[in-house]
Amino acid sequence: MDFNLRRQVEPELLDGLAAEDPQALRSRKDLRWIHRAMATLVIMQRALNRGTAGFVPRTLLELGAGDGSLMLRMARKQTDCWPAMEVTLLDRLNLVEPQTLEEIHKLGWTPRVVTLDIFHWLEGYNNSRTDIVIANLFMHHFSSKELARLLAGIAARSQVFLCCEPRRSILSLVGAHCIGLLGAGPVTRHDAVSSVHAGFRAQELSELWPNPQNWVLHEYSAGLFTHCFLAIWKGA
Ligand SMILES: C[S@@+](CC[C@H](N)C(=O)[O-])C[C@H]1O[C@@H](n2cnc3c(N)ncnc32)[C@H](O)[C@@H]1O
Repeated sequence: MDFNLRRQVEPELLDGLAAEDPQALRSRKDLRWIHRAMATLVIMQRALNRGTAGFVPRTLLELGAGDGSLMLRMARKQTDCWPAMEVTLLDRLNLVEPQTLEEIHKLGWTPRVVTLDIFHWLEGYNNSRTDIVIANLFMHHFSSKELARLLAGIAARSQVFLCCEPRRSILSLVGAHCIGLLGAGPVTRHDAVSSVHAGFRAQELSELWPNPQNWVLHEYSAGLFTHCFLAIWKGA
């Protein structure tokens, strides 16, 4: 079931709340179980193993990293294959607890938090490529015009880019409307539906990616509700 719903981007409630607002805390808690329900970590690991075949990455940047809990879970699973990693968690809010950073550190990775709007990050001079850039439930926040700018900035700064976003489909919409039945709070219930309307389908992200001849691109559905885009740099 994947009807051609028109993409609509509207502000999400979580983005309008202060970091410590109880409703925001509740929604971020919901996101942590939603990651598990959507098997986000497994989907990301599979894609990243494909993206990093033949090299051991040493730098990893997460865009819109939220509370860093997904990165911590990734560190727990990946440190055997990727023993030393410089990790950057970028978000416009500082939401990462010191304990999360400490746990990532104990696993042998070196984390740092960058509290910056993504578009300010794009303005910064940077001529080196991060081995892996990831984003989860982040890219769908932006209009096509903003996305084109964002993807161009990411393409100039990454060897491998992976994002996992809501799939814009009838099935996802039904799932988003039912999320309250699983205990999600009001902010998550609203944002889940908005996210599906702003999500992706088909090859929408590949079509916006610059210089595709220099990349291996994969854009596909994963699980019931996730749309993945994986870009692997081939060289100019
Ligand atoms: C839906 S949450 C997802 C958080 C996390 N990736 C996860 O899966 O739990 C979106 C995150 O993007 C961040 N965000 C939204 N707009 C942003 C921007 N323009 N620059 C940087 N971060 C932004 C929000 O603060 C929020 O933490």
